[in-house]
Amino acid sequence: MTNLEETNLSPLIVGTMRLGLWGAQMNSQQLQEFIEESIEFGLTTFDHADIYGDYTTEADFGKVLKNNSSLRTKLQLITKCGIRRVCANRPDHKIKSYDSSPEHIKWSVENSLKELATDYIDVLLIHRPDHLMDPNEVAEVIFHLYEAGKVRSFGVSNFTPSQFELLNEEIPLCTNQIEASILALNPFEDGTIDQCLRQGVPPMAWSPLGGGALFQTGEDPRLNQILQVARPLQEKYNCQLDQLLLAWLLRHPAGIQPVLGTSKIERIRDAVGALAIQMDRTDWYDLWQASKGAVLP
Ligand SMILES: NC(=O)c1ccc[n+]([C@@H]2O[C@H](COP(=O)([O-])OP(=O)(O)OC[C@H]3O[C@@H](n4cnc5c(N)ncnc54)[C@H](OP(=O)(O)O)[C@@H]3O)[C@@H](O)[C@H]2O)c1
Repeated sequence: MTNLEETNLSPLIVGTMRLGLWGAQMNSQQLQEFIEESIEFGLTTFDHADIYGDYTTEADFGKVLKNNSSLRTKLQLITKCGIRRVCANRPDHKIKSYDSSPEHIKWSVENSLKELATDYIDVLLIHRPDHLMDPNEVAEVIFHLYEAGKVRSFGVSNFTPSQFELLNEEIPLCTNQIEASILALNPFEDGTIDQCLRQGVPPMAWSPLGGGALFQTGEDPRLNQILQVARPLQEKYNCQLDQLLLAWLLRHPAGIQPVLGTSKIERIRDAVGALAIQMDRTDWYDLWQASKGAVLP
């Protein structure tokens, strides 16, 4: 089984959740430009899930790939399976549930391959921990998909350290894609990121900018505290707020790969600037304390 070292993903990943029906509703031309320009900025890895856009965003992306045969070799595709979402496009889903059964994984991979118009998925993730998951069965079906050349690398998303361990004993996992940002500190403290570090697998951080909350005035008292600390740091590092907070994630030794959620190509370009920022240890903790609202013990 391969892992991320062989898969070679970009250090920042382009999320697709908000590009289609669940957000910008890009047409094919707009999506093609967004993909091509992201690649030009060096961001070659795109994060999907079967459910995005109520099961339509993979197909939007696939349409672009179908019409531009040279694109596939220039990018890597992550997709996820295992959530049975209730929506008009899945009338047989009467109740929301999670499904990591071999039948569902196999069916879902075949479907994603068809929707994305590709022969292989670079990284397949189990989207959410399924309490009824049998790790042996999952390992077996993934191994078959790997042997068939349909899945090159395999990981999980939103798994606790013990859930990760359970599956990792049967099959090597290449990542745990988790919510992590200056507003989502839990994985830094509950062992999730420690485990990735120990295993040598880079975690991926979804909602790295708090799903946009960092740019809105909201109820969260942490926002003001973070912004107050961030402002002088933006001057020090000569950067924007988004770049600073991505650099904060990138500073961690686990090799966190932020999954960007923007649908604006200029924000993709700006995000790349974060890679050049080497944040000082004390500044990292200054932001940590601002988010915590308390000084370190
Ligand atoms: N594994 C999972 O369970 C899971 C869950 C959620 C998401 N994901 C993945 O993670 C990706 C990112 O998640 P996310 O979309 O929540 O990430 P995010 O980058 O934290 O949030 C994106 C939102 O923030 C806004 N935004 C970004 N930069 C901004 C800026 N400089 N100024 C103002 N607004 C800004 C975006 O609006 P604009 O479009 O206008 O820039 C968008 O609405 C998703 O696309 C998906 O691939 C995975």
